[in-house]
Amino acid sequence: MEIKDILKIDTEEERISALYNIFDESTRLSTKATRVEFLTTIRQIEKHLKPGMKILDLGAGTGEYSLYFAKNGYEVTAIELVEKHVNQIKEKILPGMSLEVFQGNAMDISTVGDKSYDIVLCFGPLYHLAQIEVRMKCISEVKRVCKDDGKMFFAFISNDMVIVTETMCYNPYFLQGDTYDHENFKVKNFPFVFHTVDDCRKLLKDSGLNIISEVAADGLSELLEDKINNMSDEDYKQWLNFHYYCCEKPEFLGVSNHLLFVAEKQI
Ligand SMILES: C[S@@+](CC[C@H](N)C(=O)[O-])C[C@H]1O[C@@H](n2cnc3c(N)ncnc32)[C@H](O)[C@@H]1O
Repeated sequence: MEIKDILKIDTEEERISALYNIFDESTRLSTKATRVEFLTTIRQIEKHLKPGMKILDLGAGTGEYSLYFAKNGYEVTAIELVEKHVNQIKEKILPGMSLEVFQGNAMDISTVGDKSYDIVLCFGPLYHLAQIEVRMKCISEVKRVCKDDGKMFFAFISNDMVIVTETMCYNPYFLQGDTYDHENFKVKNFPFVFHTVDDCRKLLKDSGLNIISEVAADGLSELLEDKINNMSDEDYKQWLNFHYYCCEKPEFLGVSNHLLFVAEKQI
């Protein structure tokens, strides 16, 4: 199946599953360049993590975050829509890990009790749920299952940086095409859903959350992919340090393909 054929599929759940038959999620974070997103995100989560905390990973993919925290002794629950990904997580669970994995849809996790997790990760569903009402339903579920003093982490794909990387890395004629609105530069929400920094702020504020941190999760990594992948380990270490130094600067947010927002409840 080609990407354009996915639109012919009736349900959103089936469309998402079909998309991940095209994109291999299990290797997405495996290069030096793509690892920047994972390492930056882990670092942000660990600022709030204390021993004994319970973590819910919604849209867990093939388990990068769930497995990392379970390996480090945390009690983790992973919920993931795509059956293939659920099975890939289960295959990687090691003895002694406290990691439960369920197939489910983040917009309805009614089997999960209210206020039951200290940390809730939502890295994926907001890339895919096409209707804003459904994205808000998903965020309201994240809020419901998070403890009152818990922290919620949301990942978004940046509308504006996607225009840069599409044009500079994949399709030099992108700006002449019709996959975005030529007046306001809003990219069509397919095959992923794209947000500007202000869209992310509005979505979380309209959902009744306080934003604690706004982070450029991967910054220039996709644009500079080849150069970063060819760095020596020592240069990469220094590059990461520079990225960590920049990633919370407001002026850096617009030039990141992935945006990480950390939020808490308004009490
Ligand atoms: C790009 S992957 C990210 C995986 C992982 N969270 C990470 O950050 O590496 C997005 C994941 O979200 C999952 N997903 C999308 N919509 C979902 C939904 N409504 N409920 C649960 N999972 C969903 C997809 O199946 C996919 O595995």
